[in-house]
Amino acid sequence: MSSSPTGSSTGSSTGSSRAVKVSLVPSMVKADALVGMVAVVVDQLRASTTICTALANGAKEVKPYLEPMQAMQAKARYREGTAILGGERMGRRIEGFDCGNSPAEFSRDKVSGKVVLFTTTNGTRVLYHAARAERVVVGCLANLNCLVEFLEHEKRDVHIVCAGVRGELANEDVLAAGAIVSRLMMVAPEDLGAETRSVWRADDGAMLALGFWRRASATPEDLLEAMRVSIGGRNLVSIRMGADVALCTRVSTLRVVPEFDRNSTSLRGARLPKDPPMKMVGLEELAGEGVAESRKEDEASEGTGMGTGEGTGVDGEAAPKG
Ligand code: MLT
Repeated sequence: MSSSPTGSSTGSSTGSSRAVKVSLVPSMVKADALVGMVAVVVDQLRASTTICTALANGAKEVKPYLEPMQAMQAKARYREGTAILGGERMGRRIEGFDCGNSPAEFSRDKVSGKVVLFTTTNGTRVLYHAARAERVVVGCLANLNCLVEFLEHEKRDVHIVCAGVRGELANEDVLAAGAIVSRLMMVAPEDLGAETRSVWRADDGAMLALGFWRRASATPEDLLEAMRVSIGGRNLVSIRMGADVALCTRVSTLRVVPEFDRNSTSLRGARLPKDPPMKMVGLEELAGEGVAESRKEDEASEGTGMGTGEGTGVDGEAAPKG
């Protein structure tokens, strides 16, 4: 199985030809253009990873809200102890909320059996932008393998929509989009059966994301560095949450594909194909060391004047990593 210079799959497949497109920012795709497609919403740092973590740890559902006040009002409608509030503004936990937007906070003991009422700056917004698609799912590095299995079996054209940061391009999302495109093209025919395999037609956005991913992910260390110097990575490092960048850079650690239902406005795990999981390749071995290292750096920056979040662009305009 190989890829042509244009990125299209050239495997000896008898399967269908399908489009894979990437919008580098939400405004690159009109809501109507997603009708009939599977939309994959990517907010790599951190909303996508956090939603996957909450559902993988047994949350009943995740309900995304645009504004903190809407989530708070919704909580009042739940029985005591059945729902928790999660999310961020400026990267930090919102006052009165149970959790912020760190995947590490959404542990099994906190979320199992509960509804997570969730609001983030960009991630929850892009879900509503993509809501007209036939199916809307959440993608990131953490659920890469099972997402690709899901997309292979779904048999529709795929449109990956990067959340960006306040409408601007965010490299961390483009990297994750490139990983998805790359993995779609790498699925070995023996994993799915040649007759069912798709031939993917990548648009220019998908080609660009793929090229970026290939250059940036030569080694786990390169990938972690690319994430750290992305706008979302710099913002997190500046508020001493660099450990989250490492946590979110782990590949194929979660077996869940969150699906957004526009009628109930909630996210639940989609039914996954029954086939045995596809072989994992490459970067899965990125171990906990990156997280531990980054945690030390977060702690070391405390009291040094760094990491106050002030003027560092948590709100969009990030300072270069210094
Ligand atoms: C977002 O939705 O804007 C992000 O997930 C922000 C963050 O991680 O703090």
